[in-house]
Amino acid sequence: MKNVLVIGSTGQIGSELTMKLRNEISGSMVVAGYVKGAEPKGILLDSGPAEVADVTDASRLAEIVDKYKIDTIYNLAALLSAVAEAKPLMAWDIQMNGLLNILEIAREKGCAVFTPSSIGAFGPSTPHQNTPQDTIQRPKTMYGITKVASELLSDYYFSKYGVDTRSVRFPGLISNVTLPGGGTTDYAVDIYYAAVEGRDFACPIQAGTFMDMMYMPDALKAAIDIMNADPSKLIHRNSFNITSMSFDPEIIKNAILRHIPDFKMHYEFDPVRQAIADSWPDNMNDSCAREEWGWKPDFDLESMTVDMIKALKNKLK
Ligand code: SER
Repeated sequence: MKNVLVIGSTGQIGSELTMKLRNEISGSMVVAGYVKGAEPKGILLDSGPAEVADVTDASRLAEIVDKYKIDTIYNLAALLSAVAEAKPLMAWDIQMNGLLNILEIAREKGCAVFTPSSIGAFGPSTPHQNTPQDTIQRPKTMYGITKVASELLSDYYFSKYGVDTRSVRFPGLISNVTLPGGGTTDYAVDIYYAAVEGRDFACPIQAGTFMDMMYMPDALKAAIDIMNADPSKLIHRNSFNITSMSFDPEIIKNAILRHIPDFKMHYEFDPVRQAIADSWPDNMNDSCAREEWGWKPDFDLESMTVDMIKALKNKLK
């Protein structure tokens, strides 16, 4: 991994992954790909090349791959679960037609490809406790359908054409840099902003609803480590369960209360997000990722809460 294109570089994951790759891969060229209306700014713009890279424009993507001799593509373009339910055709276009464009370019030009999957790739008939790596995947959401199909299509390009595709199933990602947009797990980010700003938090997810979650530094580490993993050790490719913690709204509220004792939360449940959350695992088994490429998270709920509150106090002062 030397010359990298990050598609979706201004999004929740991309904004931090692009900077981490630029800082950590010596002699690297990391191109920040973006769509019009989501232009990179500040350090993201100043620290390396940036190009318009819309996944639905295959010829443009091929030009960028040629221009920068790209060897690895991080394909982070996606509509999150709740937005994808509101715009299912757009979600299909970005997540499926976009992926097909990327895989074809990767096949022709010899690039490795990372396309994140998600807890959304599971559905109501999946075992919700200790969800295995290989299990029933019959999601009912457009987001989930595109994630399962992405896993299958990526594995197909590996087995049929030898394209080096690899992926992880991200849980809800919690970060203090760029907000997520339109996901079901967004509440676990929004709750920290409300707590630090002294606002009463209206929680859209009901008490007792457990989902896997992860702090962004661990998600970035996973995205890089999986692409650097020894391919001879990989039994799976698309896509590995990974998790750091599992909690419901009451547990994260209590974790925050230990640091911000006057924090207040009430429930204003959102039926769309609740139905999606109910169909997802409560907690995943990530032993295959641990065994095949050494996955291990650094943060748990307590250490993430301490770090989030500190970072947001600095950011919001
Ligand atoms: N965080 C995503 C969502 O909530 C799941 O991968 O849509």
